[in-house]
Amino acid sequence: MNPSKIVLITGCTRGLGRAMVEEFIARGWTVAGCGRDKTRLDELNQKHGSEHFFRACDVSDDGQVASFCAEMTAGCGLPDLVLNNAAVVNRNAPLWQVPAEEFDRVIDINIKGVASVMRHLLPPMLRRGGGVIVNFSSGWGRCTAPEVAPYCATKHAVEGLSQAAAQETGGRVAVIPLNPGIIDTDMLRSCFGAEAAGFPDAAAWARQAVPFLTRLGPKDNGKPLTAPG
Ligand SMILES: NC(=O)c1ccc[n+]([C@@H]2O[C@H](COP(=O)([O-])OP(=O)(O)OC[C@H]3O[C@@H](n4cnc5c(N)ncnc54)[C@H](OP(=O)(O)O)[C@@H]3O)[C@@H](O)[C@H]2O)c1
Repeated sequence: MNPSKIVLITGCTRGLGRAMVEEFIARGWTVAGCGRDKTRLDELNQKHGSEHFFRACDVSDDGQVASFCAEMTAGCGLPDLVLNNAAVVNRNAPLWQVPAEEFDRVIDINIKGVASVMRHLLPPMLRRGGGVIVNFSSGWGRCTAPEVAPYCATKHAVEGLSQAAAQETGGRVAVIPLNPGIIDTDMLRSCFGAEAAGFPDAAAWARQAVPFLTRLGPKDNGKPLTAPG
């Protein structure tokens, strides 16, 4: 018997995460995923059945991440591939007009959320001696743009966090920052408005990105990569 590989996708209820769920399942993977929207999580569980694992978890809450990771590991196993995809963007505004609460929320989800998932999954993955963690960065993790300074700050942080963690694992578990490209999702519509419609949709992106993600391994440890598509 050849048991299926397991992927964890944070932020699986919409956008890139939701599209990747379908692509991984179509390729025979077992999918675990989280988000905050319980209605969409119920729909995923009903559609895909109990061999997959979709639960509510706010990645900015370390206690929720700890419980989610424990239940996921007990329910479907330790992931082979972890996709730290969940993120938010601030509403377009100059930095000095972004309320402190909104700035905190972007930091808590986009940076601390990624760190929490690694805190709870890297130790067992290192003990097992293999696996890949992909942390979703952005073009705005490698350059900047006006009106999205909080988001840019978090994605630059994801690059640094990932590369330092990659030095720590030495590739026994590969840790990789990934710029997914520019895709028409709720997040892009928040930044680009109607111009977002000129970019590929998430399903088209996922058809190219998922095969690319499944080929990542120790050779890619710490490399800032960009997804095809
Ligand atoms: N779209 C692009 O062009 C683009 C470009 C560069 C980088 N990216 C990156 O790609 C990733 C996916 O982006 P997207 O465009 O698909 O965004 P999106 O459409 O806004 O979807 C974001 C996902 O993250 C989840 N999420 C947000 N906050 C969460 C939290 N606290 N806990 C758990 N889940 C949470 C959302 O689910 P709930 O609402 O259910 O919580 C949703 O499923 C992000 O890391 C983003 O920064 C996207």
